[in-house]
Amino acid sequence: MIYPEERIMLRGHDITLRSPIPEDAALLTEYLRTVSGECPYLMHDPDEINFTVEEEREFINSRNGSEDSVMILAFSDGEFAGSCSFESMGRCGKRYRHRMDIGISLLERFTGFGLGRLMLERLLQKAKDEGFEQAELSVVDENERAIALYRKLGFEECGHMPRCNKYEDGTYTGDIFMVKLL
Ligand SMILES: CC(C)(COP(=O)(O)OP(=O)(O)OC[C@H]1O[C@@H](n2cnc3c(N)ncnc32)[C@H](O)[C@@H]1OP(=O)(O)O)[C@@H](O)C(=O)NCCC(=O)NCCS
Repeated sequence: MIYPEERIMLRGHDITLRSPIPEDAALLTEYLRTVSGECPYLMHDPDEINFTVEEEREFINSRNGSEDSVMILAFSDGEFAGSCSFESMGRCGKRYRHRMDIGISLLERFTGFGLGRLMLERLLQKAKDEGFEQAELSVVDENERAIALYRKLGFEECGHMPRCNKYEDGTYTGDIFMVKLL
């Protein structure tokens, strides 16, 4: 699915939202490594981001060509800032087709001025327009900033998995599951 390019002014910043193009592959690989190292709230450590630029290019093409998933990149004043995406749960079976799963991350220096909120609002609207009924996500229970944003956008907590994530120093965090009716 393609997200048509959109430009918005946000607190003095010129924001562009658009789907990735194959030429973004190297930038996205680098970004995933950086953002995974910046915060402990994403699924992978930086050393796990070891796919090639060519593999990332194929991933971009498959996302853009799919009918049930979308990826949106955000640029702030021309600089790449982060991405968000959704994917239908219908890949697990027909009874899950009304549900979609969300992911979002921004490079740390582009957080805190409303960009995450803007991206999620657009992503949720796109999902609604495509006929999805329910948005879902999981979030590390210590990720206060993300949880606050999701609540503000109408997500409700529907479960908690303790010890979901184990870190190299032996400590754990849990995951909270959240859902929003579209
Ligand atoms: C989580 C993330 C997407 C949020 O995006 P953001 O652009 O930083 O968030 P916003 O600036 O849109 O702020 C969201 C809201 O939460 C509030 N908020 C921020 N930090 C907060 C905190 N620690 N406690 C409570 N509220 C907080 C803000 O005031 C804002 O509310 P407002 O819109 O009413 O002013 C972004 O910080 C990020 O990518 N972080 C790193 C990766 C990550 O954690 N991804 C999510 C994985 S589930």
